[in-house]
Amino acid sequence: MPAQHPCIHSYAEYEDAYRRSVENPEQFWAEVAEPFTWRRKWDSVLKADLVGGHNEWYSGAKLNITENCLDRHLATRGNKLALIWEPNDPKTRQIRYTYRELHQQVCQFANVLLNNGVEKGDRVCLYMPMIPQLAIAVLACARIGAVHSVIFAGFSATAIADRVNDAQATVVLTSDGLNRGPKQIPVKRVVDEALESCPSVRRVIVVEHLGWPVHMQEGRDVWYHEEAQEASKSCPAEEMDAEDTLFILYTSGSTGKPKGVVHTTAGYMVWADYTFRNVFQVQENDVYWCTADIGWVTGHSYLLYGPLLSGASTLMFEGVPTYPDAGRFWEVIDKHGVNVFYTAPTAIRSLMATPLDNVLSYSLDSLRVLGTVGEPINEEAWHWYHTHVGKERCPIVDTWWQTETGGIMISGLAGISPLKPAHAGQPLPGVQPVLLTQEGQEIEGNGQEGYLAIKFPWPGIIRTTYGDHERARQTYFGPYPGYYFTGDGARRDEDGLYRIIGRVDDVINVSGHRFGTAEIENAINQNPHVVESAVVGYPHDVKGQGIYAFVICREPVGKTDAGQVEASIIETIVAEIGKIAKPDKIQLVSGLPKTRSGKIMRRILRKVAEGETSNLGDITTLLDPGVVEEIIQGKK
Ligand code: WT7
Repeated sequence: MPAQHPCIHSYAEYEDAYRRSVENPEQFWAEVAEPFTWRRKWDSVLKADLVGGHNEWYSGAKLNITENCLDRHLATRGNKLALIWEPNDPKTRQIRYTYRELHQQVCQFANVLLNNGVEKGDRVCLYMPMIPQLAIAVLACARIGAVHSVIFAGFSATAIADRVNDAQATVVLTSDGLNRGPKQIPVKRVVDEALESCPSVRRVIVVEHLGWPVHMQEGRDVWYHEEAQEASKSCPAEEMDAEDTLFILYTSGSTGKPKGVVHTTAGYMVWADYTFRNVFQVQENDVYWCTADIGWVTGHSYLLYGPLLSGASTLMFEGVPTYPDAGRFWEVIDKHGVNVFYTAPTAIRSLMATPLDNVLSYSLDSLRVLGTVGEPINEEAWHWYHTHVGKERCPIVDTWWQTETGGIMISGLAGISPLKPAHAGQPLPGVQPVLLTQEGQEIEGNGQEGYLAIKFPWPGIIRTTYGDHERARQTYFGPYPGYYFTGDGARRDEDGLYRIIGRVDDVINVSGHRFGTAEIENAINQNPHVVESAVVGYPHDVKGQGIYAFVICREPVGKTDAGQVEASIIETIVAEIGKIAKPDKIQLVSGLPKTRSGKIMRRILRKVAEGETSNLGDITTLLDPGVVEEIIQGKK
């Protein structure tokens, strides 16, 4: 009999697990890892290095994550639903796969990859809609040991090319088109444009979804359904090393281009499973729904890997919360009897802004647990969610984590931990958070605020940034040697519960999407009208943060031309990054507030964007204090 996966059932058990995870981490994580399917066990549980950022978990072990997601469930859960797919349009057909069927689909897709020459270690980029084949393709890569790198299907051709080239991907998976609410988007066309500058790609596999005609490049492009005809539905899993790369996921930082966050096999698996089970407390017959797109880490860990590792039934939704109307989420919950629901504060805030009837006309009786992720949830949104969705009956887990952490770090455990609106709460077992001063001193005691850092590795910790370890070291391990630096500010309240305040670096969080201000500035600066720009975030009712761009143009722009210039700047951003990075406000200025050494004083721009112009602080060190007055006058 394999050992049972440990699951926490009470607050006392949480405290006990937490204590053990700190007192003897290696023994703790060995016990947690025991019940998985291993081809070979590890030689050492942890090799820790929070200075150089070389952390290894379960070194020497051999496994395949898909055997743990699929094969090992077949004996007991073969006929249980693994994946439920709800289409964009409620009138069209749902698709359901049992564990046995999903296993076959993954094997078949894996064989198509093999037949197309994909080898262990090759990078495969996926630019696909939220259709079952995306989930299947991700698992198929893992089955044969190829590294998957999913690119959210809202990024532009230029953004795709940047990622494909950085990963040196040889194969790209895409589809003819995608549905997003009332819109249809020709994704293959975007990929074609991107690949004009991606010499590493030799094969594109296209999944038919909308039935649209697409251009197929001779010798490079093939249809999945044609390839699948000859592909067997069984495929042995490749034996992987614990520290072999499972996936790369690009995310924005405070400098330069997005970086490829690397997660490896064994540690990520253990972390995704352990956090999923304990945070959401999913029961055997539950339907679980995470609304995130697989293009983001939440979709990786909590739509796909976490639920499947735990043997849960996971729902995947192609559409958007407001199509055909703003009751769509609640309709899906009633239709599928969803028990556990995990979404983002920005979605809650956008639905809150619509008539209450949209939610009150559904029963939502099946719901037992609610979760949020991606950004701080304000109290108003928390209460609306708790009252109108959870009917004051469902605990809300506010889960704080990052692409780099692989899984949830600070969160309540549903039905077990104390609930406090807008507070993520306590660390999961294995997570040792600290608050630091700017100089790197640990701040002791409760009722304190500081920079959030983690002082001991956990199994899901980022391993490196693809192709550039030095960048990972500098970003995460360099600022405070001996700590993983999160980039977030946090407060530890009187009861020891953590509340995440937001980023302390030049990263902004717009509707749960993460951008570097420098990344948006670089995009704006590609526009021929532009000399220089500065981007800041400002509080936005629905998006959490909005994007405010201050732009200096080459020639003075009159009022009549301003609209045209702004439209052209937006066009440039959409082409460089994608629609998701469209600024909310653009202000054309003749200068930017700079110090005598030429550094832009973003503090001042943030204040202007927030509308807090009465208290700008000391501006006497500015090169040209006069420019501040002009900027205040021109505020959008
Ligand atoms: C940043 C990470 C974690 C998956 C989705 C976003 C912010 C995330 C919370 C939360 C307050 C949160 C942080 C973090 N964030 N969850 N529950 N409360 N802030 O992943 O794109 O890597 O962004 O999102 O600022 O650093 P990501």
